[in-house]
Amino acid sequence: MLSHLLHLAGIDSIIVESRTQDYIESRVRAGVLEQTTVDLMRESGLGERLKREGLPHHGVWLSFGGRRHRIDFTELTGGRSITVYAQHEVIKDLVKARLFAGGQILFEAEDVSVDGFQSDTPQIRYRKDGREERISCDLIGGCDGFHGICRPSIPDSLLTVYDRSYPFAWLGILAEAPPSSEELVYSYHERGFALFSMRSPGVTRLYLQCHPDEDLACWPDERIWQELLVRHTTRDGWAPLEGRIIQKGVTGMRSYVVEPMQCGRLFLAGDAAHIVPPTGAKGLNLAVADVAVLARAMAEFFRSGRRDLLDRYSETCLRRVWKVQRFSWWMTAMLHRFETDNPFDRRRQLAELDYVTSSRAAMTSLAENYVGLPLD
Ligand code: PHB
Repeated sequence: MLSHLLHLAGIDSIIVESRTQDYIESRVRAGVLEQTTVDLMRESGLGERLKREGLPHHGVWLSFGGRRHRIDFTELTGGRSITVYAQHEVIKDLVKARLFAGGQILFEAEDVSVDGFQSDTPQIRYRKDGREERISCDLIGGCDGFHGICRPSIPDSLLTVYDRSYPFAWLGILAEAPPSSEELVYSYHERGFALFSMRSPGVTRLYLQCHPDEDLACWPDERIWQELLVRHTTRDGWAPLEGRIIQKGVTGMRSYVVEPMQCGRLFLAGDAAHIVPPTGAKGLNLAVADVAVLARAMAEFFRSGRRDLLDRYSETCLRRVWKVQRFSWWMTAMLHRFETDNPFDRRRQLAELDYVTSSRAAMTSLAENYVGLPLD
């Protein structure tokens, strides 16, 4: 997305990617785009397939005590909504747009390293097809994820890390079943959290709160469905439809921020700088917001030589990042079962859910965060 936005501003870039095109275009990851992300895709010419295949959602359900309660995003936020469109579909659209415009994506680059970013002549080194290569550039976007090489290339002494782990994870499945609800269902249950989501009219995505080191071998399909049905079924008889499970995995839960998000001419964006727990579906959206701010700052730098937007990149992003961290933590804390909680805490969680589904002020707060805060 950064490369695409830079191209629209007339700036050349090279994407250095360690994986194959096929890998990044098929790896199943997030699936919910907030309004802010959808707007950016449309405005930058990537809206066509999204409009055709994306599933617009105007609200979500919170389920607890055997009942579902709807939060109407569109009504509460003056017409904003979210769109279910898988992350790897976004990747496909972006790769296609970059390649169509003659953009360079170096797939399967090995041993990538960045250096010189504290000077005016940063460099990226990598090996491709057995040859050592070097790119001299003006600026580096560190968009290489939590396990990437950019963040660890910045001296530890220049960074402050804020980190929180959670004593649980999500067991996620994809199932060949039509979604039995048109909108997502977040279920609070004494046996633990469960989430009903989807990827397309024929594929349901479901999650169960589990242990961080859960062994998938202990979860045959029948046990997964049994647990999903116990946690999701409401008194009015709503339950997810069952189908063949086509994928299973365990997703860890973590909140993490590194400050600042820049060092000289290296700018960290997305998971390279921060991780959110998946409750609230913010990871991809936060990354897109970062690069929207970064592309604008880079464009100003090349247009006028002004550095002030670049210098303020981290500060601008972090204000939003921390609000999204707060929201993701809050959704996680409200909906999960914590082993250390006592009956008081569970009553407090239920009171919070009751409040959030009955007070218009509280519902509006959830809705405006879920559909996406303004970029700055
Ligand atoms: C998903 O569909 O993968 C999804 C949806 C909502 C979340 C997290 C994940 O909060």
